[in-house]
Order: sequence, then structure tokens, then C-alpha cells
Amino acid sequence: METGYTVEQLRAAATDAVRAPSLHNVQPWRFRLRDGGIEVLLDPTRRLPATDPSGWGARVAGGAALFNLRLALAVAGAPATVRLRPYPSEPDVLARLVPDLPRRPSPAEQGLYAAIPRRFSNRAPFWPDPVPADSRWRLGEAARAEHCWLELLIGVSAVNAFAEIARSAHRVLERDPAYRAEREAWVRAGTEPDGVPVTASGPRAEPQDLLPSRGFGGTQRAPGRDFEPEPLVAVLGSAGNTAVDQVVAGQALQRVLLTATDAGLSVSMLSQPIEVPSAREQLRLSLGRFGTPQMVMRIGYGQPGWPTPRRSVDEVLDLPVSLA
Ligand SMILES: Cc1cc2nc3c(=O)[nH]c(=O)nc-3n(C[C@H](O)[C@H](O)[C@H](O)COP(=O)(O)O)c2cc1C
Repeated sequence: METGYTVEQLRAAATDAVRAPSLHNVQPWRFRLRDGGIEVLLDPTRRLPATDPSGWGARVAGGAALFNLRLALAVAGAPATVRLRPYPSEPDVLARLVPDLPRRPSPAEQGLYAAIPRRFSNRAPFWPDPVPADSRWRLGEAARAEHCWLELLIGVSAVNAFAEIARSAHRVLERDPAYRAEREAWVRAGTEPDGVPVTASGPRAEPQDLLPSRGFGGTQRAPGRDFEPEPLVAVLGSAGNTAVDQVVAGQALQRVLLTATDAGLSVSMLSQPIEVPSAREQLRLSLGRFGTPQMVMRIGYGQPGWPTPRRSVDEVLDLPVSLA
């Protein structure tokens, strides 16, 4: 009978965990083996003080990495029982995973797991094809399975009202020089293992764009290559907004993203209206939902692209000294 996870299991699962998305691709996570359990931690050296002063984005990213870790362990036949924020005195420990009863992975888990290396943020314009009803339903189910909700904005007026909130949040953020400097510091022109490669930044923003793009650089677009006029916008929300809720939302985010990838859909994230408290409240009121919006996604069919780089797994593992 297994009593705990091994270094090999940790290394294999963490290799999948690091494929998770993170703000500016800072990859704010670490993974360690302690007393037979795998723990997901925040890396205090990878904070974004101007962009993410509360640590919301880091906890959402950590939750997304945790979802990949859970999935990888389940697919390897060693599913985990998870405790979130297990030690009140160590808030940077987001989760502790210990082995549950071994079982075979479900086909759904295998499908989502296979989507991990194929998922990436697609910031380019999408094709006009609508997202079919069954895919929309699957995305909502993915959020619900992780104790969150997903609101799809239906109709031009709902999308326009959202776009207004998002653009004004974007303008508020852009007024802060420290915020702009932080973003610029994480744009990468070369082959660095972190940050946002210019090649993944999508086309440069133009005045007619409905939704604000973050501004990671990008190329001038050809005439007529505008964004889709009626994007499918989805808002992911959680029951509350404690640190634990944010980790829960990160897991739901990753489940929604992998479900979208598995359904052949592309996604880009836009979190400006989440980062500005007044915009987030306006968004919540406009949806008429209890709970807290945690992420906004633009979803559609797009050009195939490439996953962005990650640091090697050995850089993010904390092993017991005798095993390092
Ligand atoms: C909490 C959070 C907020 C994000 N906000 C944005 C955003 O506002 N705009 C954007 O283009 N990408 C956003 N992203 C996506 C990241 O930039 C992206 O995940 C990262 O660069 C890694 O690239 P990948 O998603 O292709 O793996 C966000 C991701 C997370 C986890």
C-alpha cells in the first residue's frame, strides 16, 4: 500500500503543472514533496507588485497549475485528495495533495490531460464561426465541476456593455507608469523561458477594437484583419473572494481552458476588468450574479498557434536535500 508520493511522481506531474497560464507568464509557482504529500507553493520572488498587488493573479495561476497537477496524478492512476491552504501560518502553501485510493482515469480526465500541451492563449482575431451550443454547455459544466460559474454574454448589447467596462479598466491601469513598466519588463523578444513572447502577443491594438488588448507589443495588422465583431465573451466567477476562492477559481479556469482546447476552441484571457476593483464590481452588478468575477475569456475558433515557453521543471521543484 502506498503511503505517499515519490519524487518521480512529483517530477512527472509538475512537468504538466507548469504548462498552466499565469499573468505575464511569470510562472509564480513551486512544488515540493513533504511527508509524502505534494505541495503547491507561491514563489515570493515572482510577484508582480504593480500589476497584482493583492496576489490574486498568482493564486489563480497557482490554482490552474494545481488543476494540471491533479489531472496528471489522476491519469497516472494515483489521484489525490487535496487540501487548500492547509497551514494558516504558511499562506504561500496553496495546496497539499496526498494519495487517494488508486483508480483508473476516466475518459474525460484523459481527454483533458491530452489537451494540456495543446492549450495556449490565442490573442489573434478569431474566425466568425459561432461556438456551438454543446461546446458552450461543456464550458459551463467545466466551471460548475470546480465549484464556480461561467456566464456567457449573449447578444450585442451585453458584449458592448462589458466592452465599455473593460476599456475603462484598461485606461485606469494604463495611467500607472509602474504597471506599464512591469508589463514591458515581461515582454520577450528572444527565447527566454518566461514572460510573453512578442510572437504570442497578437496584433497591435487599434482604435476600432471592441475589447482592450493588454499591449504586449505585436505586429501591425493587415487591412481588413479586424477582430470578430461579436466575440463570445465568458466571465468565470467564484462563490466568494477569499484566497481559497481564488485558488478554486484558478482550478476552474484551467478546467474551462482545457475543455475549450479539447473542443477545438481558442481562448484569450482579459483580466483588466478584474484587476480594477470598481470595474469588477460593475461587472458583477451587470451580470446580476452573487459571488465574484475572477476572469474574462474571449472564446472562438482560431488559427493554430504555439505554446509559450516555460522554465524547466527542475527549477521549480523543492526536493528533500537527500534527493535533490
Ligand atoms: C490571472 C491571469 C490573468 C491574465 N490576464 C491576461 C490579460 O489580461 N491579457 C492577456 O492577453 N493574457 C492574460 N493572461 C494570459 C497570460 O498572459 C498567459 O497565460 C501567459 O502569457 C502564458 O501563455 P499561455 O497562456 O499561452 O500559456 C492571464 C493569465 C492569468 C493566469
